[in-house]
Amino acid sequence: MFVAIVIVVATILLVFGLVVFRGAPYVPTLRKNLEQGFRDVYPLSERDLLVDIGSGDGVVLRQAAKCGARAIGYELNPFLVVISKLLSRNNPLVKIYLADFWRVSLPDETTIVYTFGESRDIEKMYQKVQEEVNRLAKPIYFMSFGFPVKDKEALKTEAGFCLYQVSPLQ
Ligand SMILES: C[S@@+](CC[C@H](N)C(=O)[O-])C[C@H]1O[C@@H](n2cnc3c(N)ncnc32)[C@H](O)[C@@H]1O
Repeated sequence: MFVAIVIVVATILLVFGLVVFRGAPYVPTLRKNLEQGFRDVYPLSERDLLVDIGSGDGVVLRQAAKCGARAIGYELNPFLVVISKLLSRNNPLVKIYLADFWRVSLPDETTIVYTFGESRDIEKMYQKVQEEVNRLAKPIYFMSFGFPVKDKEALKTEAGFCLYQVSPLQ
């Protein structure tokens, strides 16, 4: 029994640890920050489709849904996918996929991409969104919590959030 518990705990720690090779470790955005961000920085509405790249326990998705927006999360950690699906069950506006966000294509209707990444990856994340914006040939907002994107001018910086508009490049 003891060995089984050790194996389960070691597996969970290993999965959480391995994620750092592909992106930020799991730290959730606080709900009070999200309330402020989706009210004062980018007022979300039912016209929006928010995509959270690295959706953790899904707190961002559920907060977006409270504003009436549809919300899609991509998450690499299977334990967090299960937890976020459980926490978001019965919420028709929320969808969560087990996926590496570096490999996903954004849905056509995406209006805003949210991330709580890390300084190492933030420029690469912006670039990923830029490529998708070019493919979709329409502007998409990019909202980063905690980390500004170097050399890009934010539309708004408030309460720890930086909001950018990413427009198609020729
Ligand atoms: C700092 S947490 C943010 C979670 C959530 N977005 C929030 O703000 O509450 C970053 C999340 O990204 C996930 N992640 C890291 N690299 C990823 C990748 N390449 N594809 C999908 N998810 C990834 C981690 O497992 C973690 O849950």
